[in-house]
Amino acid sequence: MTGLTHNVSLKAFNTFGLDIKAKYFLAFSDVGTLLEQLNQLEPATPLLILGGGSNILFTKDYDGLVLKNELKGIELLRENDDHVWVRVMAGENWHQFVLHCIEQNWAGVENLSLIPGTVGAAPMQNIGAYGVEIKEVFESLEAVNIATKEVEEFDAEKCQFGYRESIFKKEAKGKYIITSVTLRLNKKTEFNVSYGAIRETLEAMGVQELSIKAVSDAVIKIRQSKLPDPEEVGNAGSFFKNPTIDKIDYEGLKAEFPSIPGYKQPGDKIKVPAAWLIEQTGWKGKTFGQIGVHKNQPLVLVNYGMGEGSGIENLALKIRESVATRFGIELTPEVNII
Ligand code: FAD
Ligand code: EPU
Repeated sequence: MTGLTHNVSLKAFNTFGLDIKAKYFLAFSDVGTLLEQLNQLEPATPLLILGGGSNILFTKDYDGLVLKNELKGIELLRENDDHVWVRVMAGENWHQFVLHCIEQNWAGVENLSLIPGTVGAAPMQNIGAYGVEIKEVFESLEAVNIATKEVEEFDAEKCQFGYRESIFKKEAKGKYIITSVTLRLNKKTEFNVSYGAIRETLEAMGVQELSIKAVSDAVIKIRQSKLPDPEEVGNAGSFFKNPTIDKIDYEGLKAEFPSIPGYKQPGDKIKVPAAWLIEQTGWKGKTFGQIGVHKNQPLVLVNYGMGEGSGIENLALKIRESVATRFGIELTPEVNII
């Protein structure tokens, strides 16, 4: 198969910086070639689609084929007075795409600035930040069904988006290669600055009049102050999801732990920050040789350079046990553990 390489280190291809090897490695930059290559594969070959590697924890060498997505291109499909519909190939870098939208004055993704990774992986977990999720601007996506080699279209309903969830993390897991994503962006802006510190940051920046760029700049500033840069210390962002519990359980915990934060969700549910639970159980800032829990944001597990994925998985397990014992809350990993 043209371009196929063997025993390739994935250190540069995952933001944890883990030095594991893929048995086979192949980059693809057009859908036609991808389909031809899939047809040549032994059906039993395990496949892993790799974007920017910013939401993956490799715990061992990968005994199969890693397909690195390099599909590129941004196309304006149509527009009306209110919206533009833009098809983005899955290998485009998400943040570069957000910057492109800002240049074009297309609103809707500015709150999602500086999220690492590719456009194709964004619907996988319905990326979200600062009060916005991709599902709000999502129109459809195209994906190759690995079993049939057919291209299928998924609208938002078919994607079953939830908080850090989609069908691609559930029953469709490992069965599709997302090749393009079509977003419906806004020409008329409605800014969402109510979340977290955006408003204060805009004020501190001296912004008099809101703009897409100003909101993006504020989000970038907050993120840079809170989250470690994977270029400096290996990480995959939040390792766990923020758990959602029943209001009645939350009230029980509040009686015992009065400072426990909670955010109301639909259906008498409360979202509790996992960072708080992890800090309270004493893990914040702890290091164990080459790995640890970040000193400012305990939801982020880190590799200081020479750590191993299995060690990080073990640490995550211990954190889950502590939180379950102390608070009776089960933490679920957000990161894809391979
Ligand atoms: P990868 O890590 O390469 O892949 C993730 C999963 O998707 C894997 O299972 C992979 O097999 C699969 N996959 C990838 N591409 C495709 C495809 N084309 N078709 C089918 N399957 C595919 N996430 C948020 O939601 N909000 C945040 O605020 C946020 N902040 C972060 C901050 C930092 C510092 C880091 C390191 C990560 C952060 N993340 C955040 C997580 C991550 O950036 C997102 O999940 C991102 O969408 C992952 O993209 P990727 O291309 O790197 O995916
Ligand atoms: N907190 C602590 N101790 C800390 C840090 C935070 O107790 O050291 C508590 C505080 O109560 C704080 C709360 O946690 O108010 C929330 O912290 P933060 O605003 O940093 O956000 P988060 O809930 O930890 C989530 C997402 C991020 C996203 C930000 C902004 C998840 C799992 N994580 O983090 O997404 O960027 O909100 O919207 O939902 C990611 O998915 O990888 C990611 C980074």
